[in-house]
Amino acid sequence: MISALQAPVRHLFGPGPSPVHPRVYEAMRQPIVGHLDPFFFQVNEEIRGWLQECFGTKNEFTMVISGTGSAGMECAVTNFVEPGMKVGIFANGYFSDRLTEMAKRHGAVVARLEKPWGQTYTDAEAQAFIQAEKPKLVAYVQAETSTGCYTPGDGICNAAHDAGALVIADCVTSLGGMPVRVDEAGIDIAYSGTQKALGCPPGLAPVTCSPRAVEYLRARPTPSVSWYLDLKLLLDYYENAHRYHHTAPISMFYALRESLAIIASEGLEKRWARHEANHEAFVAGLAELGMGMLVSEGERLWTLNTPLIPAGVDDLKIRKHLMANHGIEIAGGLGPLAGRVFRIGTMGYGSSPENVALLLSALKEALAA
Ligand SMILES: Cc1ncc(COP(=O)(O)O)c(C=O)c1O
Repeated sequence: MISALQAPVRHLFGPGPSPVHPRVYEAMRQPIVGHLDPFFFQVNEEIRGWLQECFGTKNEFTMVISGTGSAGMECAVTNFVEPGMKVGIFANGYFSDRLTEMAKRHGAVVARLEKPWGQTYTDAEAQAFIQAEKPKLVAYVQAETSTGCYTPGDGICNAAHDAGALVIADCVTSLGGMPVRVDEAGIDIAYSGTQKALGCPPGLAPVTCSPRAVEYLRARPTPSVSWYLDLKLLLDYYENAHRYHHTAPISMFYALRESLAIIASEGLEKRWARHEANHEAFVAGLAELGMGMLVSEGERLWTLNTPLIPAGVDDLKIRKHLMANHGIEIAGGLGPLAGRVFRIGTMGYGSSPENVALLLSALKEALAA
């Protein structure tokens, strides 16, 4: 007899996946219905409405892609990049590099505005870059999980629209934990993932498109090279004719529905305030441990913290110690930040005063050890 799977319980304080709310786990145990069942489309409608709120948009064209955050990114790229198109990328971290790679694979001519990792852009810098390069499409990462830096993007969007360009924003680590402000900022295509501040397992990628982006999509002469991520086909499945496109991962839709219901019950602004307060308390506690932050105050994510590793401290030893002795997962830095920062998530269901206290006491003990 082979025994049933028993996964270990971890404290997930890395950059994602984040802890999952018990109500979300319960929702995933609900019976599966077919992917064309009216109940499924009812669940999908609820998801759409709550997602519009989290994104801060009235966009009718708001839906969920079956796949992780990278599928959301690839969906944005494959539907809006055409071969030979000039794409301007605000390059200040690991995920803007991934956007660059995807855009290039779709035949884009990429121009990048480089910034040291952990820094964001002034409106003047954004404007000068866009005026000089004249891209047709612009992309930036609102919540850069490799650095902990927040880019609100209003200046980028204004400059892009003045130049007649559409704007893609990666909101994977902001959605559900911080203001995303799609309509207010002027973002045309925003995507996210379920496993961060939404408090869900990984597996779905919410996407929203402005009327301007939809107009582009409808007028696009060639179909996107990806059949699976083709937004026009997906729209036919989810919204219009309910024509079969793929077998949607029903349990993940239940999970997302439940996490969004939890957010609606908590209240979005209260949830943001919770994330902000726990982030601030964590930063204050880190200072007491002698740890400064990579990102300047006012530009930090509330969902993902990047404390600087004190001189003489071995990044890997600390992380291994936290896992072995406390069951705590945190992450190290990527690329130029490897060995220089920790990446510690305070997001979704995991953002609580109790978890901040747990993290700080475990870090203190690990540093001493
Ligand atoms: C900012 C950002 N974009 C995209 C992704 C890719 O998401 P996934 O790993 O779910 O494919 C991540 C994942 O951490 C992310 O943090």
